Amino acid sequence: LTPYASVEWADGLVRVLDQRRLPHEIVYRDLVDEGDVAAAIRDMMVRGAPLIGAVAAYGLALAARRSAAATPGELLADLDRAVGMLSAARPTAVNLTWALGRVLHRTGDPSIGGVEAIKWAALDEAQRIAREDVSVNLQLGHNALPLIPDDATVIHHCNTGGLATVGVGTALGIIRAAHENGKRLHVLVDETRPRLQGARLTAWELRELGIPHTVIVDGASGHFMRTKVVDLCVVGCDRVAANGDTANKIGTYNLALVASVHRVPFYVAAPTSTIDLAIPNGEAIPIEERPAREVTHVGEEWITPKGTLVANPAFDVTPAAYITAIITEAGIAYPPYDASLAALVKRGQAGVAR
Ligand code: MRU
Repeated sequence: LTPYASVEWADGLVRVLDQRRLPHEIVYRDLVDEGDVAAAIRDMMVRGAPLIGAVAAYGLALAARRSAAATPGELLADLDRAVGMLSAARPTAVNLTWALGRVLHRTGDPSIGGVEAIKWAALDEAQRIAREDVSVNLQLGHNALPLIPDDATVIHHCNTGGLATVGVGTALGIIRAAHENGKRLHVLVDETRPRLQGARLTAWELRELGIPHTVIVDGASGHFMRTKVVDLCVVGCDRVAANGDTANKIGTYNLALVASVHRVPFYVAAPTSTIDLAIPNGEAIPIEERPAREVTHVGEEWITPKGTLVANPAFDVTPAAYITAIITEAGIAYPPYDASLAALVKRGQAGVAR
């Protein structure tokens, strides 16, 4: 499916591709316990909402495997402690708590007898989450095909491909599916300050896939929409509230506003695991604030005056009113989103693409 594995279970270890070193070096790291996994998520060695969820689930499997608990009760207490550590790693992507919740639900099943069986169940659930992500991505890409015209220019923000998921990706999975179905696309790749996921990761993935693309600075999207070369925007997301308000990488809201003014369709790709029906609207989505150094420095070089105040929200919320459609593995949601998203989540939970 992809020329690299973003994560895999390797003989009792979690092996991840260190995304901080891409595109220049391909380095895999072995994570041995839940502390390693939490640090890998926090430091963005791995990133992207679906991947964060899958890696966290494997972190819980590691915690189970390493636990010295003698009874199921002790083991479940160890797992609860690990969940506390893992869920604190990054706050915005709901996939993190969703995946941990799935493993806990499975291991907490009272019909599982004994410590070894619980350990096995933790790993088995993590493997399922990873496997399902692969089929969910493929189905999502397939569902989007009718929305993608031939001979189109697409703006994409951040990185939503094989590096952000276990499978082929969400928004980038859509672009890939369209390309593989013979549609001619040119992707304008937002560089995505400050971590440059677009310039470093999306450009790398598109090059590997042979999909034509051009990297642009984030601020250039308005120019390209005004000069009418853009047919659509497609982005991923970290959490979609029940009303369709969507948190995604900082800069997504600006892009959606410009798209709306220029009447360019703005699509969000969202596995149903990223839809949080417990949150009524975007106001309730926690927005991660990341270290100032990501803004004050480019690589090792300090670019701001010393002592400059910096704000570094990693995500923003795009109000549902600016989103043309939300594409999931269970189908496409259109406004009003309260009804359409709830119906798709139900279908997704019934296992449409598993
Ligand atoms: O900070 P990141 O790199 O984890 O942010 C990633 C994004 O914003 C993606 O668009 C989102 O997680 C969807 S990935 C399929």
